[in-house]
Amino acid sequence: MFTRNPLKGMDDVFPSDMRVIKYLTNKLKEISELYTYQEYDTPLLEPIEIYEAKTSSELVNEQSFIVEKKEGERLILRPEITPTLARMVAQKEQELKKPIRWYSIPKCYRYEQPQKGRRREFLQYNIDILGEDTLYAELEVFHIIVDILTNFGATYEQFQIFFNNRRFIDAVCEFILDIPEEKFQTVYDVLDKSDKMEEEEFEAYVREAFQNEFIVQSIYKLRDSDDLDELLKSFNDIPDTFYESQGYKELKNLENLIQNSEIDMYCSFSSGIVRGLDYYTGTVFEVFDTGKENIRAIFGGGRYDDLLSIFSDKQLSGIGFGMGMLMLELFLRTYDLIPEDIEDLDYSDVIYITTINKKVASYVFNLAQRIREQKISCLIDYRFDNLGNQLSKANDLGVNISLIIGPNEMEKNQVTVKNMISEDQKTVSFENLLEEISKMKKELKL
Ligand code: HAM
Repeated sequence: MFTRNPLKGMDDVFPSDMRVIKYLTNKLKEISELYTYQEYDTPLLEPIEIYEAKTSSELVNEQSFIVEKKEGERLILRPEITPTLARMVAQKEQELKKPIRWYSIPKCYRYEQPQKGRRREFLQYNIDILGEDTLYAELEVFHIIVDILTNFGATYEQFQIFFNNRRFIDAVCEFILDIPEEKFQTVYDVLDKSDKMEEEEFEAYVREAFQNEFIVQSIYKLRDSDDLDELLKSFNDIPDTFYESQGYKELKNLENLIQNSEIDMYCSFSSGIVRGLDYYTGTVFEVFDTGKENIRAIFGGGRYDDLLSIFSDKQLSGIGFGMGMLMLELFLRTYDLIPEDIEDLDYSDVIYITTINKKVASYVFNLAQRIREQKISCLIDYRFDNLGNQLSKANDLGVNISLIIGPNEMEKNQVTVKNMISEDQKTVSFENLLEEISKMKKELKL
């Protein structure tokens, strides 16, 4: 016999799980569309090269599912979709109205060690705005995040958006730490790995990467700071060129924009956030649970200025984020923000048809069709005899209205309608059935 389990890191999605996913995705779609983002979809397979170009070597070399074609062509099961988004936008760049506001909820694949919040197959909500260079795009994306999480009932005490800017880190490296440009990536790597390592391991990693005490100490400051002015005060003799840099100005301006907005209390600067994907160039951010339950970021994103350059001569900057649906669910469950009964099918609105014997079978099929035509869900109990069992099943399911059909009803073209709560029942003509159902629904406050 074969195993009944799915492959490691993959999940069978049962109807009860699907209901939770739908609850989450419906809200995400609703909010995306309130901001006028349009839904799109991407192919599951792509040439590996477009992911190799600017994502991360870890993602492509260690975490990807690869399909080899006969001709030696290598295809990747999408580990994320931002490079594909860039490809699609580059394809229709001329005709698309800017800014482009799009969202998608694809299944993605990463060959990771399955652990809390991490699977090999996972759903990831993506929302991006392209062709809007000003920091208002950042502000819009942060508003979307706040709207999503507060709509689910979360408060600012439960989550924070931590933001930083890669160009700011570049400026710190160049003008304050005097690190050569080819080593900027190492600074990102070190900062990105910092929360995935034990303290001692981290120290060894930093010291190995930079054999210079000033830089090592500065990396610690960058890792830990959540106050831009304090961070800068901790360095001596910062040259003017630093304050004139695009990175510093962008970060400071974003901080000001946020301070003057309604979402100030949801956002904090954090110089330790750099993100692990190579295509980010400016603002980067990660959203964290502020409690102790979920240590890793719930989700994250950032601005990418040159991702389209692998497909086109046109430059188009984008910013957005990817959110694992599982991480969102874990976060919401931590704070009891998923309605308890969401996993069960709600039968309270379903009309349950019971029968006295088999002779009425075609009559009840016709009856059920007329009810469904009115967009009212209904089902037939096929046990036909034993009315008592049928009604008690309806009760167990939480049905409020049942129909009882026997030869008498069939002969006279009638239906007996039963209020399962008061146990009152009434026989009405077939034509008056829908009226009776809606009357009973009113009585039942459905
Ligand atoms: P990422 O940081 O690689 O960014 O993934 C974003 C989010 O996807 C993670 O924070 C997590 O919520 C979820 N995620 C990632 N890997 C897994 C996994 N193995 N299992 C479950 N959930 C996972 C990106 O993917 C960027 N493309 C996001 C983006 C969009 N940036 C700009 N636009």
